[in-house]
Amino acid sequence: MSELLSISRLSKAFGAIRVADRVTLAVAPGEIVGIIGPNGAGKTSLFGLIAGNLRPDEGHIEFDGRDITRLAPQERARAGLARTYQVPKPFTHMTVAENLRVAAVFGAGLEGRDAEDLIDRVLEDTGMRSVRGTLAGRLPLLMRKRHELARALATRPKLLLVDEVAAGLTDHEVNDFIELVLRIRAGGVTILWIEHVMKTMLSATDRLVALNAGRVLASGVPDEVINSAEVRRVYLGA
Ligand SMILES: Nc1ncnc2c1ncn2[C@@H]1O[C@H](COP(=O)(O)OP(=O)(O)OP(=O)(O)O)[C@@H](O)[C@H]1O
Ligand SMILES: [Mg+2]
Repeated sequence: MSELLSISRLSKAFGAIRVADRVTLAVAPGEIVGIIGPNGAGKTSLFGLIAGNLRPDEGHIEFDGRDITRLAPQERARAGLARTYQVPKPFTHMTVAENLRVAAVFGAGLEGRDAEDLIDRVLEDTGMRSVRGTLAGRLPLLMRKRHELARALATRPKLLLVDEVAAGLTDHEVNDFIELVLRIRAGGVTILWIEHVMKTMLSATDRLVALNAGRVLASGVPDEVINSAEVRRVYLGA
């Protein structure tokens, strides 16, 4: 078993809408795999299925050598899976450091000094030291996005699922996020990254998977996937 994550024939429907249609994909340790696809393609739903927020109708998910298909989200977090949310859901009346403490205690299973050390490291890595005492609900947009990433990192994940951090940011801020994600990977974390901002997908990923209507349309080298006939047809309607 050389894959960290292995998804096989995963399917999920909401009534007539198929958000996952026999999705098969594998992610090796240390990879950054990008997920692209038009609005409603099923990208966020796929993260929900991997993280355990959604139950699949069919198919299997193996993570770190273990079948996690039936595990609760909390158990998956303890096993080393973390996700960010497209619409962040921090505890708005708690400070940044308190939010990270919740993640370190319940996600990573740490206590006392160990939890505080991890929180300090994450604040440093994500450039959030200056706002550690700020209420999460008061953070400006860029910091809110970093905070979402920091909360996931404070669970000490092996696999990090990143759902659209670059949307709405300036070019400069996008570059900072690319650097941050590359640093996270350099620290030993494997990453699945959903983004519409193509620059991130072309400059930071090892591989791309394109989804449409819950199905894998194409996967492979980023440049080839973006320029493939299937993907161009979906994006350009050609
Ligand atoms: N809980 C739900 N109940 C019913 N339909 C849902 C639910 N969650 C998602 N959907 C529908 O499933 C489809 C896929 O949604 P999903 O959020 O996975 O798309 P996405 O690829 O992340 O899109 P976007 O790029 O806009 O974020 C959409 O048509 C959405 O409306
Ligand atoms: Mg989405």
